[in-house]
Amino acid sequence: MAIRFSVLTVSDRSARGEREDLAGPALVKQIEAAGHTLVHTSVVADEASDISRMLILWCDAGETDIILTTGGTGFAPRDITPEATMAIIQRPALGIAEAARAFSLQLTPHAMLSRNTAGIRGRTLIINLPGSPKAAREILEYLLPVLPHAVELLEDNPQAEQGHGKVSA
Ligand code: MTE
Repeated sequence: MAIRFSVLTVSDRSARGEREDLAGPALVKQIEAAGHTLVHTSVVADEASDISRMLILWCDAGETDIILTTGGTGFAPRDITPEATMAIIQRPALGIAEAARAFSLQLTPHAMLSRNTAGIRGRTLIINLPGSPKAAREILEYLLPVLPHAVELLEDNPQAEQGHGKVSA
């Protein structure tokens, strides 16, 4: 099943054009290599209102199944992506955030410094990923096999029943 993804890079420096966005394009490459579809990409500053506005726009347009954010999940004073996400979701999906952190902790103890969250608005799932391209890619790789079933459930697809117990290749 092809999932419709959008990718939001959250970075002050990339939004100002001072640093090339590497994480966003790395995720796009991975999404397309896995046979999924890309709907939108954008780069916003670490401003809660900018992040929330873009997430609402993409969720409510109904064209995106999953939004991946990258960046702004750490402890720096301007890292507020999880708060901007929690402000606009309707249902938390903490299992995904916990799984991402648990998986990452096996790779680096620094993973405990990511405050990433995940949640659902309408029929769109939002997943926060860290800002480092390597970290974002590692986590997406781990999550990808579970995401088709997540989208089937979000769509209330009758076939979702058959997907329980199955993990896509
Ligand atoms: N997760 C994975 N899988 N691999 C990593 O290298 N780096 C961590 C963490 N999660 C890392 C990871 C580090 S160093 C930080 S500070 C946090 O993510 C938050 O990153 P962010 O502020 O760029 O979002």
